[in-house]
Amino acid sequence: MNDTRIFTVRPAGFADVETIFGLIKEHPQELLARPVYDIVQNVDRFLVCECEGQIVGTVSWGILPEIGVAMQPTVEIKSLAVRPGYMRCGIGRRLVGAAIEHVQLLAPTQIIVLTFTPEFFRKLGFREVAKASLMHKLYMGCINCAKYDSPFTCPEVAMALAT
Ligand SMILES: CC(C)(COP(=O)(O)OP(=O)(O)OC[C@H]1O[C@@H](n2cnc3c(N)ncnc32)[C@H](O)[C@@H]1OP(=O)(O)O)[C@@H](O)C(=O)NCCC(=O)NCCS
Repeated sequence: MNDTRIFTVRPAGFADVETIFGLIKEHPQELLARPVYDIVQNVDRFLVCECEGQIVGTVSWGILPEIGVAMQPTVEIKSLAVRPGYMRCGIGRRLVGAAIEHVQLLAPTQIIVLTFTPEFFRKLGFREVAKASLMHKLYMGCINCAKYDSPFTCPEVAMALAT
């Protein structure tokens, strides 16, 4: 049967913060939890996907001035989450596509992601890069994670959007 639901991607607003917070927390294995105040402070770097008045997905991006050329830093796609009952309907693809459109206006050196689902990002044009090229980012991200003894034994994959 055809899926007739309408999915709309739009910029997030303050009224969405609590829902975004909950959505990210629904995926503790794949995503770093983000404090409410971090989401509030960065709400203009979040997009949400709505379906029938409900938020069913979110994505955000972060600027990494410590990686890349001065004035043209690297941008990381992060906090990508789709509500479990809505997965495999094209929402993740739409959210990442819209985030890339926003980010490309900034003309970053590269757009990266750290992910446990490299197959999904490969379909969207990302290719694996050496983790060692993102050491500062790994240090900052991994400092709050106790699951692995080193970022190099962690199965998370570093990828960059192929240009
Ligand atoms: C990963 C995630 C965002 C994918 O979102 P989604 O809406 O289910 O993905 P889409 O429906 O847009 O899928 C796009 C394509 O990727 C494929 N795909 C989706 N999830 C995949 C997965 N886990 N493994 C492999 N391929 C996957 C789809 O089959 C589809 O392929 P097609 O175009 O050939 O049909 C979603 O599963 C999720 O929220 N996971 C938990 C949090 C997470 O892992 N976030 C990413 C952290 S970087």
